[in-house]
Amino acid sequence: MTTSTNASPIGVFDSGVGGLPILKAIHTLLPHEHTVYLADTGYAPYGDKTADQVVRRVVVVGDWFVAQGVKALVVACNTATVLAIEVLRAHYPQLIIVGVEPAIKPAALASSSGVIGVLATARTAASASVAKLVDAHGQRVQVLVQACPGLVDAIERGAPQAHITALLQAWLKPMLAQGADHIVLGCTHYIVVRNLIQQLVG
Ligand code: DGL
Repeated sequence: MTTSTNASPIGVFDSGVGGLPILKAIHTLLPHEHTVYLADTGYAPYGDKTADQVVRRVVVVGDWFVAQGVKALVVACNTATVLAIEVLRAHYPQLIIVGVEPAIKPAALASSSGVIGVLATARTAASASVAKLVDAHGQRVQVLVQACPGLVDAIERGAPQAHITALLQAWLKPMLAQGADHIVLGCTHYIVVRNLIQQLVG
């Protein structure tokens, strides 16, 4: 194992391109830090795997980052965070480990209509963490949680925009019809198609 120091890099990972907007934000906020990014594309999408498969995989990924001598690990993936961040923290107590969760709280606080939508992978949508967030922040708003099977895969392989638009429209239309005024992007891959989502919701 490589020992980390303050000058050691920060590890950042996702199942693919989804973590890149997070990596960009880290570079903007912490321009002096070095980073190592892992796109685990051979194992994508995480959101279609069982919880057990994802947990076992992120430990393999964690071991790799420890071998690189990182001082901290950013889990730039909602699915890996909700399913496995506790396991990672237990495995690597020497690392600072930061994750991402669907931004249900800020959306609930900002909603005027009292309805918010959440787009997420199937695993994230069905997770105990999301249920807990909905319980905690869904008192004053209705939270419509929508699993989006196939979307990560389409983004990852650079599918034609028309295909991604058709997928998104099928999930967004019912949310808008029910009055949703905030859409939470509960998967980092969806940030990559944020402009398209913005166009579709107006
Ligand atoms: N970017 C990951 C997330 O935030 C995608 C998960 C996947 O590979 O399905 O959930």
